[in-house]
Amino acid sequence: MKTIEIKPDVYWVGVIDWAIRDFHGYVTPNGTTYNNYLILDEQITLFDTVKHDFSEVTIENIKSLTDPSKIKNIVINHIENDHLSSIGDIMHLAPDATIYITDRGRKGLERFFDTSKWDIKVVKTGDTLNIGRRNLLFLETPMLHWPDSMMTYIKEDKVLISQDAFGQHYASSARFDDEFITCFSITELEDAIKDYYANILMPFGTLIKNKIAEVQKLGIEIDIIAPDHGIIWRKDPSKIINMYLDMANGKADPGVVIIYDTMWHSTEQMTVPIMQGIKDEGVNVKVVKLRASPISFAVKEFWKARGCLIGSPTLNNSMFPTVAEFLAYLKGLRPKNRIVGSFGSYGWSGGAVKNIYEEVKKMGLETMEPGVQVLYRPSDEDKKQCYEFGAEFARKVKEYHTKFE
Ligand code: FEO
Repeated sequence: MKTIEIKPDVYWVGVIDWAIRDFHGYVTPNGTTYNNYLILDEQITLFDTVKHDFSEVTIENIKSLTDPSKIKNIVINHIENDHLSSIGDIMHLAPDATIYITDRGRKGLERFFDTSKWDIKVVKTGDTLNIGRRNLLFLETPMLHWPDSMMTYIKEDKVLISQDAFGQHYASSARFDDEFITCFSITELEDAIKDYYANILMPFGTLIKNKIAEVQKLGIEIDIIAPDHGIIWRKDPSKIINMYLDMANGKADPGVVIIYDTMWHSTEQMTVPIMQGIKDEGVNVKVVKLRASPISFAVKEFWKARGCLIGSPTLNNSMFPTVAEFLAYLKGLRPKNRIVGSFGSYGWSGGAVKNIYEEVKKMGLETMEPGVQVLYRPSDEDKKQCYEFGAEFARKVKEYHTKFE
């Protein structure tokens, strides 16, 4: 793999993982990249490593620029395995390098590796490091998205190395925002950003807003944002910052997503008139069947829309297992600013719709109750009720959405 110079003597030395489709359970249909960076200054400095499967690739990239034993500093911005797990191989080649890491990062690093012979320096927000012609500024970003997380700002180059923040899972030939938009599309890029945010960063909206405000208060100029996944923002870094602020503020499309599962197609049959009722109110609607879709895809679609209708048949007096799994995953992501309704079929006793509302209310989400339940198979009368339910929900979504405009 060819290295890429993102500023004079500042290189991307990362790898492209074209094949990964399951990123710790989160589906990555477009693969990903593990971005790490090398500065050739008086003190050669490496930022992060890559997933261990690819350690040879990044080492070859580094070797194409310098002898790895000359690496003087290694900045570890984040200790999750996709960025840390090659550190043992790097330290084997550069045993005299000094590692710069947050205190929480150091504690994690010591759990993953034998660090007894490594020189480790703990840094905190505001600490700086001179590496020759450049100065690095460290900015802790705890819980964005791990306790150890930090970013590093290269003052003279105005480059912010932002670890996971501002990244996306997308393996492509494009390394930069302008290349991606030319080769692919802005819509595809925005979708990948929302997917990443929904599945990784949704719980941390307030932290994100505070951290962006903190960085803006420092008055630092940013030419380039270089995250640890996906494309590097060189043409318009403000685009990704504004997108993050919008998402942290609960921005959503004024649409609806129907997320459902079904046993013998009765709940599925309910989705059609519900969908039509929503559509006839002029509201965009998408439909996601859980058993046919990755859970991370369902969460992304949930996140993109202002309203969500969750459908489930009743099984053993409760909701269908895939629906329960979806709600458990969603609850951990602490969603906000969305309105939810529920529907489903049942045989001899109901339960699913009631249980769904209970779970959604525990999350503190707005609801439209009651939902719709049908016995065994939706009759023509039931289908009319489903249509009205969809239309009423669409009207509620439009009204609720005005709060955020
Ligand atoms: Fe890409 Fe939190 O690791």
